[in-house]
Amino acid sequence: MGLNLFTMFSDKPKPRKQQQGVPGEKTPAQVLAEGMLNVRDIIAPSAIEVDFTFLRIGNMYFRTIFVSGYPRFVGANWLSPIINFEHTLDVSMFYYPVKSKVILDDLRRKITELEATTMTNVEKGKIVDPVVSAALEDAKALQEQLVKGVEKYFQFSFYITISAETPEELESVTSKLESTLGALLLISKVASLQMEDAFQSSIPTGLDKMLITRNMDTTSLATTFPFTSSDLTMEEGIMYGINRHNGSLVIFDRFSLENANSVVFAKSGSGKSYFVKLEALRLLVFGSEVMIIDPEEEYRTLCEAVGGNYIDFSANSSHKINPFDLSGVAVEGENELGQKLIGLITLLKLMLGGLTASEEAILDRALIETYRIKGITTDPDTQSGIEPPVMEDLYKVLMGASEPEAKGMAERLERFIKGSMTGIFDSQSNINLDSKMTVFSTKNLEEALRPIAFYLILDFVWTRIRRDLKKRILIVEEAWYLLQNEDSARFIYSIAKRARKYYLGLTTISQDVDDFLSSEYGKAIVTNSSIQILLKQHPAGIDKVAETFYLSEGEKRLLLAAAVGEGLFFAGANHVAIKVMASEAEHKLITTNPEELLKLREQGLIKPLGSNAPKTGPAIPPVQRPYESMRTESSQGTQTITDTETSIQNQSGQGQPKPEEKKMEQPTFNLGSTPSQPGPAAPAEQ
Ligand SMILES: Nc1ncnc2c1ncn2[C@@H]1O[C@H](COP(=O)(O)OP(=O)(O)OP(=O)(O)O)[C@@H](O)[C@H]1O
Ligand SMILES: [Mg+2]
Repeated sequence: MGLNLFTMFSDKPKPRKQQQGVPGEKTPAQVLAEGMLNVRDIIAPSAIEVDFTFLRIGNMYFRTIFVSGYPRFVGANWLSPIINFEHTLDVSMFYYPVKSKVILDDLRRKITELEATTMTNVEKGKIVDPVVSAALEDAKALQEQLVKGVEKYFQFSFYITISAETPEELESVTSKLESTLGALLLISKVASLQMEDAFQSSIPTGLDKMLITRNMDTTSLATTFPFTSSDLTMEEGIMYGINRHNGSLVIFDRFSLENANSVVFAKSGSGKSYFVKLEALRLLVFGSEVMIIDPEEEYRTLCEAVGGNYIDFSANSSHKINPFDLSGVAVEGENELGQKLIGLITLLKLMLGGLTASEEAILDRALIETYRIKGITTDPDTQSGIEPPVMEDLYKVLMGASEPEAKGMAERLERFIKGSMTGIFDSQSNINLDSKMTVFSTKNLEEALRPIAFYLILDFVWTRIRRDLKKRILIVEEAWYLLQNEDSARFIYSIAKRARKYYLGLTTISQDVDDFLSSEYGKAIVTNSSIQILLKQHPAGIDKVAETFYLSEGEKRLLLAAAVGEGLFFAGANHVAIKVMASEAEHKLITTNPEELLKLREQGLIKPLGSNAPKTGPAIPPVQRPYESMRTESSQGTQTITDTETSIQNQSGQGQPKPEEKKMEQPTFNLGSTPSQPGPAAPAEQ
């Protein structure tokens, strides 16, 4: 029927009947719609070439395969080789429920038939055909389950479409896919001469134009569900990245494993710190506390954004850690003072540059004496509630001792108390770990003090966390610092071993895999870490890595060719190729790309490095404040938070302090050891 466009727009009102549309005639609305551009017009290819065994749409070739035979038995997730196939495939499955009654009638007939066959055989004195008896058994079992309603009956069809850029690629992928299907005991066929219908059956329109079905009961059907295939997706946990095999998410809860430790190895600049920061940020949302030893001042932006406590150690810093602290927690079968003395001797060995056997013995006695003077003995009751001694007390005891070695040691110790190396460990501790995130920066410490500081911070954290049980993560950047020295290596290993009991997950990061794995303790830390992350590796170190982590050739190649943020994620027995991905907001907080950092600083979105000084630049524009809820939770009146709020991300523009006020601000955290500190000083923690 011809269309008259002019009548559509004529002034004369049309009879009602015509507007509703006569059957077979188009309504004006339809006519109008037809003349407009719709989505189909945009996405449709100009032509589709349909060949016997493939389709060509634009420059791409497509071939659909259907499955006509299935194995007798299947296990859970049996289709995973197809779901995780190395080439992109479109897989479609159709499930058709079948009324049980139809099947039951059919089954009854079948069972009667099979029983008759069996009986005839018995009557004739023949051996019963095992195929017949197996079929009978199956049919009876199925009948029983259907009657009881335990199982339902379905029909299932399964199509796979391959796409390729060239006919050659199409052939090669087809033969690979066919052999994979063959290995699963699936009989597959190319839908020759039916390419169009087959293709339509595998696009997401829900149309099965092929109808090549197979009967299946509920249990068998359930095993075809592809969702179990994404190897590392847990119900709970944080998102680590994207599974590069199949594009699924790697969601994982490290606290669900036998220990929550992890190691991260990769060459410099491949995204180790990025990964760890991202994890830390996301773990905060799940209520973990995070502590970080940061030798590069990389974690400041992140820490300040979440309202954490950034502790910057330097020669004249006001932050102090007293290595003589005791946790005051009595553990069955453990003498805390005894353990502490071992730890202190290790620390003093680092500080004094090695000890002879007799010096060690004298030092041991001197340490016991130092504690005794304060009233602390091996009796656990004396170990809590009493202020512990400080380094100077030990110095005095050594000075007062009669042995010449003691004097010698006192002299060597002097520079840490009064001299050039005065640092962070000559007074009572004034740091608490109450914040959601605590970062210890050692960047501004002298190089020689760094290994000592690392050890000291670890010891401090270890002592403190045992006082109250909380979900915590301790991140040690550049962990090879600690492995250079036998004693400190042993110490970090012992933390890795015992962390589980204190709900602690230790993350060790190292760019020098070779160094790390050459140390016995390093190797032991790896075996005591349930999660292992390998990002891009150096060709020189790959063999050692492959040997330690039992990598296949393919995995070795993957690690050598990995881009930034790509690598392998091992969790317990599973491992997947992962791509670490952050959101834009997260990326701003964790990137170390100098170019991006400069831009962010120019925009005032992050603070210039190392500056707590007042800003005299343009006013900071309001930016969206990330992780709002965490800030409120952790902002328990410490000064850092006040600093953070005013200087990094002043959201509303109100409360922006005047320059004079800002000058008064102390750099980050101080709990009252310096009397000049303005504002209320919190009491030093015991
Ligand atoms: N998954 C990622 N997506 C986007 N950018 C990333 C990713 N991972 C890392 N980067 C960027 O790559 C650079 C190097 O990353 P990162 O600082 O984490 O490396 P690293 O392995 O810790 O290096 P180093 O051993 O020197 O500390 C940074 O600029 C970071 O922003
Ligand atoms: Mg780094």
